[in-house]
Amino acid sequence: MLTSRHLLGIEGLSKDEITQILDLSETYVRQNRQANKHSNALNGLTQVNMFFEASTRTQASFEIAGKRLGADVMNMSMAASSISKGETLIDTAMTLNAMHPDLLVVRHPHSGAVALLAEKVNCAVLNAGDGQHEHPTQALLDALTIRRAKGRLHRLTIAICGDIAHSRVARSNMFLLGKMENRVRLIGPRTLMPSGIDQLGVEVTDNMAEGLKGADVVMMLRLQKERMDGGFIPSTREYYHRWGLDNAKLANAKPDAIVMHPGPMNRGVEIDGVLADDLNRSVIQDQVEMGVAVRMAVMDLLARGPQRKEAIYV
Ligand code: NCD
Repeated sequence: MLTSRHLLGIEGLSKDEITQILDLSETYVRQNRQANKHSNALNGLTQVNMFFEASTRTQASFEIAGKRLGADVMNMSMAASSISKGETLIDTAMTLNAMHPDLLVVRHPHSGAVALLAEKVNCAVLNAGDGQHEHPTQALLDALTIRRAKGRLHRLTIAICGDIAHSRVARSNMFLLGKMENRVRLIGPRTLMPSGIDQLGVEVTDNMAEGLKGADVVMMLRLQKERMDGGFIPSTREYYHRWGLDNAKLANAKPDAIVMHPGPMNRGVEIDGVLADDLNRSVIQDQVEMGVAVRMAVMDLLARGPQRKEAIYV
């Protein structure tokens, strides 16, 4: 069981809770590889997915996860919702809340919006990515992928490369990998490093060869142009030349280093397409597989959790 009623970020999870989630995920990895993928942890419960931002894998993953656990799953199409008629996020949430959902999965372009919403409803809220803040289930699925590939989740050197400043994936991973006592190195142009990063207990460099030296894991990030208002990089060609991962740059890492990417990836911008498909190095498809199992585990644990607030509209 988790201490919190919600999963809003990795920052609020303990090391033991992370391990508990990953251990339960293993059960679901096995279940998902069988012909019959159903179990009943969420039987009778209602899960609502509210995605205010584009998503392919995260939304599909949460939907499949809920259905495999027996929940009634509804996907709200937020573009067609009353938000477009001027209703506030909170009013939409309160309206849904009155229909008694048990799990609310929310993605929103503003950092902190999901936490705000969680204060107003009486069910478990899962953050599926809020602005540049956190994307906890992504970090958990990355952790499960690393633990399975490397046999452990501590004392590894993990390089996170690219657009760190705009990445909630990088933030959640920094929290998680730090808590599990790994060495985290951030690599990317100075313009794409968040301010105050040096205080977070991570190493920072703008040099790929230097940063990848001795890395067990190389995690690439997408250039999040939709979050940039101006010229953060000279050109995508120049960016690929200096920070795009190809075999030549990867040769600086350990010979058995794995390559990760949360998706969606821009081939030829942050990663070479052939390398991304190289199953000897790339675990990108494993990450997607682990995503369903991790989301099943988290929803299972939250459904057992410290339950519902009694009064809704107080
Ligand atoms: C990421 C996200 O939305 O934060 N994608 C994902 O969930 N797999 C990363 C990204 O958009 O680049």
